[in-house]
Amino acid sequence: MAMQERVYLARRFTPCVERAIAARFAVVRHAVDAPVAPDVLAREAAGCTHLFVSTTERVTSDVIAALAPSLRTIATLSVGHDHIDLAAARAGGIAVLTTPDVLSDACAEVGMLLILAAARRAHEADALVRSGAWTGLAPTLLLGRGLVGRRLGILGMGRIGRGVAQRARAFGMAIHYHNRSRLTSDPEQGATYHATAEALLEQSDVLCLCAPNGGGLDGFLDTARIALLPPEAIVINLSRGDIVDDDALIAALASGRLFAAGLDVFRGEPAIDPRYATMPNVFLTPHIGSATIETRDAMGMLLVEGIDALARGETPSNRLC
Ligand code: DGY
Repeated sequence: MAMQERVYLARRFTPCVERAIAARFAVVRHAVDAPVAPDVLAREAAGCTHLFVSTTERVTSDVIAALAPSLRTIATLSVGHDHIDLAAARAGGIAVLTTPDVLSDACAEVGMLLILAAARRAHEADALVRSGAWTGLAPTLLLGRGLVGRRLGILGMGRIGRGVAQRARAFGMAIHYHNRSRLTSDPEQGATYHATAEALLEQSDVLCLCAPNGGGLDGFLDTARIALLPPEAIVINLSRGDIVDDDALIAALASGRLFAAGLDVFRGEPAIDPRYATMPNVFLTPHIGSATIETRDAMGMLLVEGIDALARGETPSNRLC
């Protein structure tokens, strides 16, 4: 009987995905559902043909070199791939599979969650009710910002950015965006294109950072760029934490230069800058953009089906390299 290929699961995946993997491969798993460090990954996945990881595993050139003798596929449960050394994978002839498209709606929903929560002071409102200190409706209690007629500036108008735009239109927002290249009129849907990110910032009452993988924009939202935003603007980050200069954002939120922020991603997460947790005008979520049951099922199955397609000699659409 032919030896079954071995697959390494760095994290726990949804039951339907784990069943599909177990039906095809001999499964080797990390003992607990926690991020796996590169040296552990290189040791535990030795001899495996396929790796299933998430954005919490850094698949470095050293990991790839250690696993190269047997490794054929790196499958990541993410559309982002900044945690994988693509050049090393390419050089080793190892396929990298990601999960585009199927997570766009879920991430766009979290975009709206963050916009609404930041604008309407959801964190403070929830905390007040839970505290027991609420004394009843008051004409000036927790006044937020309405969305109707406000300009939503989207940095990175890919599938997730367009999903946020589609939803925000229904809330009466005017859509502005900057992207590496201008969209054609069909996906643009009447949104206003800005040729530079700085021009976009000047028009963004609500700025939503959606650049894929952070777009190589480390520290982009710094003091000088925050100064371009309209007074009391709102900042939303759905992209990667590194795109924000935390000192600059925190100072602008503390001084009232910015009204609020809604953040799903953080530099150094999960060890976030502790000052965020003390700020009433910041709404925080723990990188849950794609975290719905149906989306995580669809993401995992896209990876499994991608490996099936590779085995048939085909090139699946979610193959990055
Ligand atoms: C992604 O898919 O890149 C999201 O950030 C979730 O990991």
